[in-house]
Amino acid sequence: MQMVPDVLRRVDRPAPPVRQVVDFARGAPSIHNTQPWLWGARGNRLELYADRTRQLAVTDPTGRNLVISCGAALEYARVAAAALGWTAEVEAGDRRLADHLATLVLEPGRATPAAEEAHRLLQLRYTDRRRFTSWPIPTGLLERLARSLGETGVTVVPLTAPADRIRVELVAREATRLEQVLPGYEEEQRAWIERGPDDGVPAATLATDQHRDRRPSRYDGDPAEATDDVRSTDGVLVLCATEDDPVAWLRTGELLCRLWARAAQEGLSLVPLSQPVEIHRTRRALREILGGDLHPELVVRVGWQEIARSPLPRTPRRPLSEVLID
Ligand SMILES: Cc1cc2nc3c(=O)[nH]c(=O)nc-3n(C[C@H](O)[C@H](O)[C@H](O)COP(=O)(O)O)c2cc1C
Repeated sequence: MQMVPDVLRRVDRPAPPVRQVVDFARGAPSIHNTQPWLWGARGNRLELYADRTRQLAVTDPTGRNLVISCGAALEYARVAAAALGWTAEVEAGDRRLADHLATLVLEPGRATPAAEEAHRLLQLRYTDRRRFTSWPIPTGLLERLARSLGETGVTVVPLTAPADRIRVELVAREATRLEQVLPGYEEEQRAWIERGPDDGVPAATLATDQHRDRRPSRYDGDPAEATDDVRSTDGVLVLCATEDDPVAWLRTGELLCRLWARAAQEGLSLVPLSQPVEIHRTRRALREILGGDLHPELVVRVGWQEIARSPLPRTPRRPLSEVLID
């Protein structure tokens, strides 16, 4: 039998679609559209790093939102690889390397309809802060969404009791109030609104022609406006973890994107709400609402947007050359 030298075997292997994968992962949601990720390619291994220069010192001193955002990029990358016909196993990052969060190991496989559908759904999603219609979200739908997504260490908890939903809205309101008096809060916030062509939250995605239909959010300049009514019919879900550490945060980001895709499949719009988790006091209150065992990592609201509404402009992204170091 003729032996095939190793070097020829390697030539036979198709090249992993690293650039396409990272290109798609640029579309992931992130806190203030900071896009705090860097990718390094080594053969079929795609390493994900946290970019700490993009961490929000005032509202995210622990880096929770930063790592959740990186987890979202990881899920985008996995979905892109799968839709291109590659399997992408996630390995834990190397603790000896600063901020190495995870590695995706790409191997040739076969694109499945499920992977293609996930890819399509993630392209549909974006953060639309306009008010949802007042159609209530059926409890059964929220429970089904949550049930379809649980995995090791992280879970989605639907808050279906009206009293719990109202408590969450009150907690969110308190978080907004408490954050607004943090030293440096306003400067940090301002630095990420209308920032430039590649990152941050453009004013056009906030102040729309349907201004009065816009839900008050953390991006409102006037603190009095940045509160919300409590008679909300929105669906409220909390992404929770059994531990509160970077591994759980990364998984939360992955879970967020799976939830977002599932919501899009149901025709639901989703808006993340991280403020109640950013402040210690409101985080504790949220934990109590959840029964005391789980760690809340991110709140999301879901609801239906009016069918005839015009789409909003999309938020920009950093160029591939800035996020892929090869
Ligand atoms: C961890 C995390 C926290 C977020 N927190 C909020 C929030 O509190 N309020 C809000 O309006 N949007 C929030 N967002 C949405 C981002 O602002 C949004 O993803 C980003 O601007 C990119 O826009 P896109 O989702 O339309 O692509 C959050 C997103 C992530 C990933």
